[in-house]
Amino acid sequence: MDNLKGKNAIISGASKGIGKAIANRLAQHGVNLVLAARTKSKLDKTAKELQAEHAVKVIGVPCDVSRLSDLENLCTVAVETLGRVDILINNAGVSSQYPFEQQPLEDLERLAHTNYLGYVRLTRLIIPHMLKNKSGSIINLVSGSVLVEPVPRSFLVYSSLKVGLRAFSKGLFWEMRDHGIKVTAIMPGVTDTELTGKLSEITEEQKERLISTQSIEDAVMFALTVPQNVCPLELAVINQQTPWTKPVIPFTQKHPQ
Ligand SMILES: NC(=O)c1ccc[n+]([C@@H]2O[C@H](COP(=O)([O-])OP(=O)(O)OC[C@H]3O[C@@H](n4cnc5c(N)ncnc54)[C@H](OP(=O)(O)O)[C@@H]3O)[C@@H](O)[C@H]2O)c1
Repeated sequence: MDNLKGKNAIISGASKGIGKAIANRLAQHGVNLVLAARTKSKLDKTAKELQAEHAVKVIGVPCDVSRLSDLENLCTVAVETLGRVDILINNAGVSSQYPFEQQPLEDLERLAHTNYLGYVRLTRLIIPHMLKNKSGSIINLVSGSVLVEPVPRSFLVYSSLKVGLRAFSKGLFWEMRDHGIKVTAIMPGVTDTELTGKLSEITEEQKERLISTQSIEDAVMFALTVPQNVCPLELAVINQQTPWTKPVIPFTQKHPQ
């Protein structure tokens, strides 16, 4: 997929943070977008901004990726309005960080249904469409925490679900390889978004060491513009200096909403 102009993409979790940054970069390159997130007001604002700035089609579809019916609707709207889906960016995610014995039980389902099943179900729904077209690119935003063995303390549930997602992504690549469909996992380090900005304990000095969303956009662009016969299977974009010094998340973070 050397030239992106005129291609069509679905991006989940696109109203802010990494998803919004990727949406903006793809729109700059002429990609038409179907954007998904739960909060309609933020999603509409993002879609409106991108539509005004770039000569591409941008449609916001309110969608909770933890609900199968919302995902089915998202795919239907995308195929009906864009005609064809070339790119799927699975990105919608939430975080909840606690020492395991304090991890609220009610967070577990939301983490699993958003950060793991949300990706797998959306992929399962769009794969038949891509198989019919004999082409497509799927990019899964995983997490740099999967590179730490064992996964970081106080981050067990989030990170172990991301480990599963990484395994799914890699396996899907091999299953789809001969059908013209590319699958790439991106493992971002600690990136400057609301997801990390909510960590009130983080100091100004630690904040300076966060990765900007631009580096994650660059990884997405790389994955989408390599020659047709190449697929970057995994791209880890990790902080040169971590905001903290050990592979331990020293913070707590309240329930995902
Ligand atoms: N920031 C980091 O340091 C970092 C590092 C590694 C990996 N990641 C991963 O990168 C992805 C994006 O993170 P981010 O930092 O950009 O987060 P963010 O700034 O909090 O943005 C998350 C986006 O996902 C949407 N979202 C959350 N739950 C959703 C749901 N159930 N259904 C649909 N949309 C939902 C949010 O909109 P609504 O709330 O309106 O739905 C928002 O658009 C996540 O998968 C995260 O795990 C982030």
